Amino acid sequence: MPATNSAETVSPAAANQPLSELLKSATRAVHEALDQRLMTLQPFANVENYRCFLRMQARLQCVTSPLFHNPQLQAWIADLDQRDRWVAVMRDCADLQIPAEQCEVDRRAATALTIDDPYRALGWLYTVEGSNLGAAFLLKMAKADLGLSEQHGARHMAGAAEGRGLAWRRFKADLDALALTDEQRQLAVTGADEAFAYVQACVDEVFEPATA
Ligand code: HEM
Repeated sequence: MPATNSAETVSPAAANQPLSELLKSATRAVHEALDQRLMTLQPFANVENYRCFLRMQARLQCVTSPLFHNPQLQAWIADLDQRDRWVAVMRDCADLQIPAEQCEVDRRAATALTIDDPYRALGWLYTVEGSNLGAAFLLKMAKADLGLSEQHGARHMAGAAEGRGLAWRRFKADLDALALTDEQRQLAVTGADEAFAYVQACVDEVFEPATA
């Protein structure tokens, strides 16, 4: 494992805060802003809006999918490959009959971005995994307002078989067990910020034409 625990590079204050808590506090404001923006766009008000929401999710899951299959990241986080939701979201896109050309636009937009630093990748993984917690609430709306389910249209929001809470706690425990330098932890924060900014940009791109 390339991470080190050098006394010269880890400040005592930063070393005391588990990485998952650092990421949570560093992204609290951008998460709140994103939640508010998304809810204002009413993603579950009708099928058209939900298609926009799905396209945003498709881009996020496509960008992050390679991370779930990266051997270095797999060595750090248990069962990582089983957490990839890209196939599920593509099936949701098919359920909702999103045209193939739009799916291709989303795939191209997503594959234009590569996350090649493993510490930044930790921040991206934190963001995409954490989004599955809020998904419990969003799934309820997708079911109640649009009649969707984990078997049709809302597959990517399904909880893990072991339960959302347990899957999240195991993920955070693996993050927190890594011995990282301050610089590596800062890279993880940068990655989480990038992930939230990416989602925000996707929302702007896919929702604006539909809501104009
Ligand atoms: C309208 C949309 C959203 C709502 C209402 C929402 C709501 C929530 C809620 C209620 C939680 C806490 C769940 C719990 O502790 O049991 C949560 C956690 C989280 N959400 Fe969201 N969320 C939304 C969208 C997103 C998106 C698009 C992302 C990023 C792609 C995201 C990233 C996260 C992260 C990283 C956490 C974990 C925070 C932590 O405890 O460290 N959320 N969300």
